[in-house]
Amino acid sequence: MLRIITVAQQKGGAGKTTLAAHLAMAWAGLGTEQRGNAFRWSAFGRNNGSGLVGKAKRRVYLLDLDPQESLSDWFRVREERYEADDNLILRQAGGWRLSGELSRARRDADLIVIDTPPHGDTSATRLAVRAADLVIVPTQLSPMDVWASKSTLELIEREGKQAIMVLNRVPPRARLADELMHALKAAGMPLASAHLGNRIAFASSLMEGKGVTESAPKSLAAAEIRLLAGEVWRKAA
Ligand SMILES: Nc1ncnc2c1ncn2[C@@H]1O[C@H](COP(=O)(O)OP(=O)(O)OP(=O)(O)O)[C@@H](O)[C@H]1O
Ligand SMILES: [Mg+2]
Repeated sequence: MLRIITVAQQKGGAGKTTLAAHLAMAWAGLGTEQRGNAFRWSAFGRNNGSGLVGKAKRRVYLLDLDPQESLSDWFRVREERYEADDNLILRQAGGWRLSGELSRARRDADLIVIDTPPHGDTSATRLAVRAADLVIVPTQLSPMDVWASKSTLELIEREGKQAIMVLNRVPPRARLADELMHALKAAGMPLASAHLGNRIAFASSLMEGKGVTESAPKSLAAAEIRLLAGEVWRKAA
């Protein structure tokens, strides 16, 4: 069954593009082979005639709605350096292109991941939220960032969609982290159990046109992405 997962957060630099790229790579099954049972591919079971395939690769479409084109830049590096993966496809889908690209992707994909721009084009973001089964809201661990998430969460609620808030760039051993997480949960925020640390590997692997599950499958960063990918997928199901 097709799933559509949108990454939205009106605050710039929260980690939308980072999450979209690394999660899409994990969901596409790229770079996960080495760590078979760390990630339960069976949860993705794709009935392709031969029943459920344990490690089937999903056909993943990435739609880049951001005029900054960061996700597209990453994909370009990937295309230039490596052989094409026929199960990972990127389309620029900003502005008027969205509905066309979305219907094309719907016909062909197992999963569509949509990366949205910060503030700016709220109508595109609204459409991307409307199309989604689940909306990921990355948030950095500061009160300002958390407050800034409110308008995104409200938009998601207005569209009647489910949100999952993901703490990103969490510093190690931060007491603030625990306190904020408690406070957010107590305030009824849809906080994911999995979060991402502040790790250079997230940036460096994107520079190489890769995802961490692919470039550093044994790293903590990759383990965090696999955990998050599993949690988000179950919630989107
Ligand atoms: N978990 C992380 N650890 C280390 N660096 C990170 C992490 N997440 C994001 N970054 C870095 O933070 C910066 C902003 O991340 P990113 O571009 O993904 O945010 P964004 O929400 O897409 O930004 P924009 O709103 O401009 O689209 C980038 O330099 C990225 O490499
Ligand atoms: Mg971005």
